[in-house]
Amino acid sequence: MTVASFIPSPYKSKLETGSFTWQSPSNIALVKYWGKLEHQIPANPSISFTLNNCHTKTTLSYTKRANNSTDTFSFEVYLDGELKLDFAPKIETFFKRIEKYLPFLTDYHFKIETHNSFPHSSGIASSASGMSAIALCLMSMEKQLVPETTTTFFTEKASFLARLGSGSACRSIEGPLVGWGAHQQITNSTDLFGVKYDGDVANVFNNYQDTILLVDVGEKKVSSTVGHSLMEGHPFAERRFEQAHKNISKLIEIFKMGNIKGFIEVVESEALTLHAMMMTSIPYFILMKPNTLAIIDKIWEFRKATGSNVCFTLDAGANVHVLYPESEKEEVLKFIKNELVAYCKNEQYICDQIGFGAYSIDS
Ligand code: PMV
Repeated sequence: MTVASFIPSPYKSKLETGSFTWQSPSNIALVKYWGKLEHQIPANPSISFTLNNCHTKTTLSYTKRANNSTDTFSFEVYLDGELKLDFAPKIETFFKRIEKYLPFLTDYHFKIETHNSFPHSSGIASSASGMSAIALCLMSMEKQLVPETTTTFFTEKASFLARLGSGSACRSIEGPLVGWGAHQQITNSTDLFGVKYDGDVANVFNNYQDTILLVDVGEKKVSSTVGHSLMEGHPFAERRFEQAHKNISKLIEIFKMGNIKGFIEVVESEALTLHAMMMTSIPYFILMKPNTLAIIDKIWEFRKATGSNVCFTLDAGANVHVLYPESEKEEVLKFIKNELVAYCKNEQYICDQIGFGAYSIDS
């Protein structure tokens, strides 16, 4: 697949008015994407678990505009029924980036109604689930215009478009494991869109659990754009990008063998490396909070004392994703409630688990 294959031929069908609804999940990277080139091309490959309970449900309603010759976009965005003027610049940038691939965008007025299953202020990035949900609604529209669109093309182009909204969003279309970025050992992997991981995965990784501990709720301290740009000219960037390739190779073997100790080592090291990159860039940031570190310490103590396979990963923020096999759910949840919840803001946490990707609410 090349970028050019996502540019459609002139549409033969016409659409006047209608709507599509998709529900799309968030995802959590095991090997992190941090650093990008132009056009949202990742500097290194990443792989993620698709989540299930943290999702965005979006309805996109479209109405043909009277004046077809306009080259401006027309849209309004609602979050939980409330008009969100501050979302407009993000959508405007997204539409500009994808217009070449969906030339019908200027022909319609769009009403985008969105709802997140998790609190907006939870510090959980809604861009992955949000951007993938819009991309899927737009693809449903394109499928009406090009009825011969295949399922594979639909999925790949939805991921391709989502990537142009927010890089990691391209990993939310499918599940349970998605790779994004060209990697020697992942079949069909590409920088252009996420692909469902088709390697062998031992049963222990099925239904893996992710309990998200909300340590810091509020606006992001460092935007993704600023964050990724910190890798430009970073003294350790090249070694980090190489390491991501190697860690994916390690995970491939780990998934196959069901090597959970190996999984813990790669995943925790990836989380700490992500933060180490932020701490060693100019400007530098510390996004972990004292409670983030306290939680990590407790997890390590608990693992040592009980032989549990619980581990953690982090996003570009202070919240902690606690990962564990389904078979250990009871003990780990007890541990979380007894020992970790005290470190969460207002004792908030979200129980999630691996999911299988987005789905249409219309069909
Ligand atoms: O998708 P973005 O541009 O918000 O970047 C996300 C980066 C991390 O969440 C820190 C890592 C990842 O691979 O998801």
